[in-house]
Amino acid sequence: MKQMIIHGGKPLQGDVWIGGAKNSTVALIPAAILSRTTVTLEGVPRISDVDNLMDLLGEMNVACEFSETTLKVNPEQIKLSPLPAGKVKSLRASYYFMGALLGRFGQATVGFPGGDDIGPRPIDQHIMGFEALGASVQNKNDQIIITAPASGLHGAEIRLEMPSVGATMNIIMASVTAKGKTVIANVAKEPEIIDLATFLNNMGAVIRGAGTDTIRIDGVPELRAQVAHTIIPDRIEAGTYVSLAACMGNGIRIHNIIAEHLDAFLAKVEEMGVVIKTDEDSLYVYPAGELKMVQVKTEPYPGFATDLQQPVTPLLLTAKSGEGIILDSIYPRRTRHIPELQKMGAKVKVEDNIILVHPGTQLHGAEVTADEIRAGACLMVAGLMADGTTKINNADNILRGYDRVVQKLTQLGADVSIVDVPEPAYES
Ligand code: EPU
Repeated sequence: MKQMIIHGGKPLQGDVWIGGAKNSTVALIPAAILSRTTVTLEGVPRISDVDNLMDLLGEMNVACEFSETTLKVNPEQIKLSPLPAGKVKSLRASYYFMGALLGRFGQATVGFPGGDDIGPRPIDQHIMGFEALGASVQNKNDQIIITAPASGLHGAEIRLEMPSVGATMNIIMASVTAKGKTVIANVAKEPEIIDLATFLNNMGAVIRGAGTDTIRIDGVPELRAQVAHTIIPDRIEAGTYVSLAACMGNGIRIHNIIAEHLDAFLAKVEEMGVVIKTDEDSLYVYPAGELKMVQVKTEPYPGFATDLQQPVTPLLLTAKSGEGIILDSIYPRRTRHIPELQKMGAKVKVEDNIILVHPGTQLHGAEVTADEIRAGACLMVAGLMADGTTKINNADNILRGYDRVVQKLTQLGADVSIVDVPEPAYES
């Protein structure tokens, strides 16, 4: 197990560069197998989710070459092989191989997805979409087996019950090579969806409407990558650095951002009184004065992102007065950071899935556990704010999705390191 050790309380300043978006990357890598030629992705973050996806590609005889931030994926010798549990369980995004394998081979066998423990995360909408395209879907021994009819997938009119990011992406991947026209209504509008559509269109797909409520796809026989694709910046990583810059910053510039992707988040942080200057592709976060408490409700894009709810919680703790409320309408049970924050002295609690934040906490270091990636990000920000030493167990969850995080924080003046420690022994 990795443990992050932070000697907190140090003011941070300087520059930080945001990596490519994790939630684009983990879709684009599986989507690369739709290409008949080598795919080049630029701006790929150094995160363990990418390593795990490369391992899965290796099992399919797909060669990968990752140097600096460029990843080349060569699917020319790809072999259709089942992706059973194991690695698939540790990486929820491996469910994108369902859509990608279906689009490429007309069949896919993928272990039931695991991933972060943030409450129930069904995939019924993905399956509904595959079935609408003509596929049959069976759930056997914790594996999902999806098979197109002998005549191949056909276009369809699909309406999602909720704007699911994963279902939107998976149905796009399956339908780009289906015969005829597919219309998907009530889709997710996240920037990562537009990134996927741009990537696939540059390989010859015909996808229109990404970023709106309805996506229209005209199926094409095959895709071929011809130009490199640069992944959009990670808006959640950027928001996490904004939060820590507002908590502990003595002036921090955050580079490689698309500010529009952070609109709802920045509006909330500015409502608290944080002063941010937005330039063309960077933000400058001024040292914070006295901050006001706010109420946060997460919503699908363009609303306040669920993935930023936890990283912003430590910032609310610094408000001088008022009671804060955080309501996660996407994942109401995404509250696993709260008991850990309490160990650090935070006056925060959960009642009926609503997080109640009391202002004016001075955090102290403690040994805490990151049960999932954004809980980890929250504890990392809290540890940087706290007096004394914070040890974050299961820091593997932070490394899953935060690009070169120790290097970036160290450059800002933080005292942070990662060590290997044995897993704690649990009493039965
Ligand atoms: N939902 C269903 N049925 C489905 C699909 C979704 O009921 O078939 C529900 C979910 O339970 C949830 C809501 O719809 O309440 C939205 O879920 P969505 O499918 O949009 O989430 P996801 O695709 O599983 C992605 C990100 C998450 C992020 C959510 C919401 C990836 C790999 N994951 O998950 O990212 O929180 O969208 O924006 O892109 C993270 O990065 O920390 C993370 C968890």
